[in-house]
Amino acid sequence: MSRSAHPAGPRHADVLPEGHWTAPPADLNALDPKVWSRTVERAAEGAVSVGGIEVARLAEEFGTPAYFLDEDDFRARCRAWRDAFGTEADVFYAGKAFLSRAIVRWLQEEGLNLDVCSAGELTTALAAGMPAERIAYHGNNKSPEEIERAVEAGVGRIVLDSFQEIVRVAHTAERLGKRQRVQIRVTVGVEAHTHEFIATAHEDQKFGIALAGGQAAEAVRRALKLDGLELTGIHSHIGSQIFDMAGFEVSARRVVQLLAEVRDEHGVELPEIDLGGGLGIAYTSDDDPREPHEIAKALSEIVTRECESAGLATPRISVEPGRAIVGPTAFTLYRVGTVKPLEGLRTYVSVDGGMSDNIRTALYDAEYTVALVSRRSDAEPILVRVVGKHCESGDIVVKDAFLPADLAPGDLIAVPATGAYCRSMASNYNHALRPPVVAVRDGEARVIVRRETEEDLLRLDVG
Ligand code: LLP
Repeated sequence: MSRSAHPAGPRHADVLPEGHWTAPPADLNALDPKVWSRTVERAAEGAVSVGGIEVARLAEEFGTPAYFLDEDDFRARCRAWRDAFGTEADVFYAGKAFLSRAIVRWLQEEGLNLDVCSAGELTTALAAGMPAERIAYHGNNKSPEEIERAVEAGVGRIVLDSFQEIVRVAHTAERLGKRQRVQIRVTVGVEAHTHEFIATAHEDQKFGIALAGGQAAEAVRRALKLDGLELTGIHSHIGSQIFDMAGFEVSARRVVQLLAEVRDEHGVELPEIDLGGGLGIAYTSDDDPREPHEIAKALSEIVTRECESAGLATPRISVEPGRAIVGPTAFTLYRVGTVKPLEGLRTYVSVDGGMSDNIRTALYDAEYTVALVSRRSDAEPILVRVVGKHCESGDIVVKDAFLPADLAPGDLIAVPATGAYCRSMASNYNHALRPPVVAVRDGEARVIVRRETEEDLLRLDVG
């Protein structure tokens, strides 16, 4: 049975996920700082604000649905990651989580580097003035044009993902009279899940080159022979929304083993290892993410220990957090359109967005919380499902949550922790207009990605 299937017989709504909480929170007006960005607060009279601006004012000025990004929080998280890793390691923000020119400028100001995985992301990074040497270029199937642009731009590293790509990048660099710094992405045989990890004997997914069967060692052998490449290190990314450091421990150990094998075979000590991203955030109060300084300490201890026992100098470490930086910094603001109580089941609350601005619930069974933010309410909690306005019953934003029973059309509700992989995976399904991203800071709000318009839709539709 698939994880989203339900047994025949009971109605869908009778089947809550196993172990799911069904009790309402003690105080529906409380905003858990774990899931809301730093400057979000509820005033005594009940309205919620971010960066000193009340949500009702934001809704009036920018419309709904819209993502509101807490710039102070974003910058503070960048600094926390940078300071945690210090000068001995590099932090590359994973642009796929959310990228815009303002974000790129903030990253530069806060001393972070950037990981891109497409020509579009590279263009955005360069357009905002990110120095090419601070960019890492990823992807399992970079086109010849993408490789050429990355090499020509002089990106700091290209992460090689296949045997074909080793040759393609080497030839492109040679043709352009360059020597490209590269890392090889390896598959370490660790399958990371949210609260656990399972070491697998073989890796059944599309990324990287397997350590198993000597594949990665062969990739190193080939890369070292090619004049167009300067192989600087090994890269590993084990998954996403991970809380348990054990998966990183296994990954680091296996990468260091490969470095030792490379030294033994070629007499070369590769100077870098990249342990990827994937650090989890709190989507609900049940999640307990680690702080950057704990993560940095754990990773550097693991790598140092493993290198000492292999007799290697400790390589320069890099990491690529995306979600852990931008995820908690934004919420999506929606206006309630309809409230439909289904007797004995739950209440469906329809908002003016949906799966076009947050596909994660439909795609990954992701869990979110929601709060009434335009006012305070002391009405009793009711079990709700927040749904969008798309023509699809899977158009769910928040599967199970509690809102006050007096919730009414026109109320503003907000879903926190939508900074990562919501706007970046937004779609035009049903010709929805993708919402704006508005940065809020110190009483000022400014659009950093504007709302799409119907003209935008028609511009692409050439008739
Ligand atoms: N580095 C590499 C090589 C990656 O592939 C990724 C994510 C990251 C870093 C950043 O991972 P993060 O720290 O953001 O978890 N759309 C999915 C997530 C896909 C992640 C893909 N790669 C989601 O919404 O959960």
